[in-house]
Amino acid sequence: MPLIFDYTNLLTGAVGEKAGLSEAEIGKLDGTEEKIIREAEAKWLPFRELPYRDEYAKSVSDLARECAGRFSTLVNLGIGGSSLGGNALVSALAGPQGNHQKVSVFFPENVDPDSFSRLLDSLDLEKTIFSVVSKSGSTAETTAQFLVVRDLLISRFGPGGYRERVVAITDPKKGDLRRLAEEDRLRTLPFPDGVGGRFSVLCPAGLFPAAMAGIDINEVLAGAREMDKRCRVSDLFQNPALLFAILLYLSNHKGRGMVVFWPYSDLLIPAADWFRQLWAESLGKRNSVDGAVVHAGQTPIRAVGVTDQHSQLQLYIEGPRDKVICFLAVNDYRTVVEIPDAGIKIPSFSYLQGKTLNSLIRAEQEATEMSLTKAGRPNCKLVFPRLAAIHLGEYFYLLEVATAFAGTLFQIDPFDQPGVEEGKKLTFGMMGREGYEDKLKEFTEWRKRPGKIV
Ligand code: PA5
Repeated sequence: MPLIFDYTNLLTGAVGEKAGLSEAEIGKLDGTEEKIIREAEAKWLPFRELPYRDEYAKSVSDLARECAGRFSTLVNLGIGGSSLGGNALVSALAGPQGNHQKVSVFFPENVDPDSFSRLLDSLDLEKTIFSVVSKSGSTAETTAQFLVVRDLLISRFGPGGYRERVVAITDPKKGDLRRLAEEDRLRTLPFPDGVGGRFSVLCPAGLFPAAMAGIDINEVLAGAREMDKRCRVSDLFQNPALLFAILLYLSNHKGRGMVVFWPYSDLLIPAADWFRQLWAESLGKRNSVDGAVVHAGQTPIRAVGVTDQHSQLQLYIEGPRDKVICFLAVNDYRTVVEIPDAGIKIPSFSYLQGKTLNSLIRAEQEATEMSLTKAGRPNCKLVFPRLAAIHLGEYFYLLEVATAFAGTLFQIDPFDQPGVEEGKKLTFGMMGREGYEDKLKEFTEWRKRPGKIV
């Protein structure tokens, strides 16, 4: 059974005339679907080639096999798209309960001095390898973490020992990380040309940490290929990526400017975080492709299983009608936990005895879905038959293609991120990077503005 997109509760039949989407509304886009697919296919979208690039899977597997034989920990130094995909794969498919964990993998991302030094202090450096991942090769956070680690490894093991403990994943030809990797004679894997960070989970950036954790990356890619077939069908109602894009676009159009991704599996929390970056950074744009000011986008929010039933759900059921919910449900969890029958005769205890945590979490997911639907709150779900590599491959590919399609609907470019550039330049200025002196000046002036504090 494949990954399923269930959109029943987005329709008027489930949540009512006002809240739901009608066949007629969806039908208004009739003919658009062909255009969307054609447009996306006419463009060179290198992320769509990744499921077929066997050479990447092979070089990743070969290197991972060699490294996993010697090291028990991998620390992935990267941020955004250079971390989130790998993290999502490792969390869902490896971990202490997996059958095939080889290496523990950490994704520190943030340059928080406290958590980063705590992580470094906890490592057995002898048995730790680091991957430094950056497409551009110049991201401040990744570069800074790498410099700390590089120094640590050289002082502890010398240049040879350092070289053995680092793999660089970056552009095959250009960029400052490529340059240093060559100078330092590091082992490298390619971050392929034209593949944007947030669309990179199926290239070595996401596959290397997964392979180190013992995940079958060929199965992940096979899942993506299966989904690719489904995403090329021109019948809207048979194409999950097109439906996902159109239904969320229409929901946004009707005032639902937020989408809550809600995994009922802790192991899928990073997969929801991965989507959050993909949807936010791709669709949140000031300008349309024609240059008009549109301030497009839909805000992705992440909630967590039953935990957020006791935190966010009240707002989602009775608060503003500005959200659409997407559950991530799992049919078969990796583990069954039985609730023992202790023979307690007190009502709050007795009905649970002899059941499982699995049946409880499933009942709660469906109960939440039904109560939202009864309250006229549109919701949908992506159903994983089980947490298997093939379904994670389907999940990533479905949402990547849906994001590309949504870009066409919103009439923006989903592959750039001009809004984050200014902050990067100001940081370079503040940190004294050559060529950014004007930004330092600007920042220094800005800091002098009269503030109001209490
Ligand atoms: O999706 C993107 O392009 C970004 O989120 C990048 O992945 C992130 O900024 C890290 O960039 P880089 O891989 O160049 O270090």
